[in-house]
Amino acid sequence: MTPLPHDLPRNTLVVGASSSIGAAVVDAFAQRGDHVHGTGRTGVVPGLAPDRTLALDLRDPASLDAAAAACAERVARLDVVVFLAGILPGDSLDAYSDEQIADVLTVNVGAQAALLRRLLPLMGDGGQVVMTASVSGERGSFDPVYAASKAAVIGLVKSLATWLAPRIRVNAVSPALIEDSTMYRDMAPERRSVHRERTPTGRLVTAQEVAGVIAGLCDPAWAGLNGQIIGVNGGAHV
Ligand SMILES: NC(=O)c1ccc[n+]([C@@H]2O[C@H](COP(=O)([O-])OP(=O)(O)OC[C@H]3O[C@@H](n4cnc5c(N)ncnc54)[C@H](OP(=O)(O)O)[C@@H]3O)[C@@H](O)[C@H]2O)c1
Repeated sequence: MTPLPHDLPRNTLVVGASSSIGAAVVDAFAQRGDHVHGTGRTGVVPGLAPDRTLALDLRDPASLDAAAAACAERVARLDVVVFLAGILPGDSLDAYSDEQIADVLTVNVGAQAALLRRLLPLMGDGGQVVMTASVSGERGSFDPVYAASKAAVIGLVKSLATWLAPRIRVNAVSPALIEDSTMYRDMAPERRSVHRERTPTGRLVTAQEVAGVIAGLCDPAWAGLNGQIIGVNGGAHV
């Protein structure tokens, strides 16, 4: 496939568009003129029309097949795929069952790789993949399985960036705690304060800031970026 002329709208798929940072990410790509499609487990994503929404359950291989097939019916080519889906049980290892360990690794990385494998034939030259790691994957965290899943995302991105080049660029963002996100809301107030105090900028990053980095690094100006893990953490991890 030939590179997409810049005057054509890109088709962008946001996997996990229903997440707490999903609306900001959809908006950031829409502002660039992209046709933005998004997934949610129920097939409904607030702010996205039904013809821009796909049902996807990463736990179900048949759902991966169906979502990839539905995507192929909707768009002739897919230009950008952004993975936002992720779960954080927030437990220590002794609180995990074997099944929960497998589940976190499946949802956060294994099934995302499996979905990407199904989507790659739809992607043309100049395509972009952005995955969402976490500072936990870079330095470890209280929840070791979540941290391991995000470390695996980092390994996946670095590996695919080599394998898919020069056709497709693959990068990740690696946020620290995001203000007013689901993880923020699930956290005790004193833990939120610890995160704020640990951040040299004196405040947590916002969903709009994370979205701005995700959409920005898919701009042609960032064409030299491939296989990189971009920390969005206010300097909390350098
Ligand atoms: N929030 C933070 O502070 C923070 C910090 C670092 C990294 N991150 C990462 O950023 C991403 C978004 O975080 P968030 O806080 O916005 O998450 P969130 O609001 O909890 O949203 C989680 C997303 O994952 C999707 N999801 C969960 N299980 C799924 C499954 N089995 N199949 C398909 N989709 C599934 C959800 O879809 P449904 O809505 O349909 O269930 C939802 O879109 C995650 O990857 C997270 O690890 C977040």
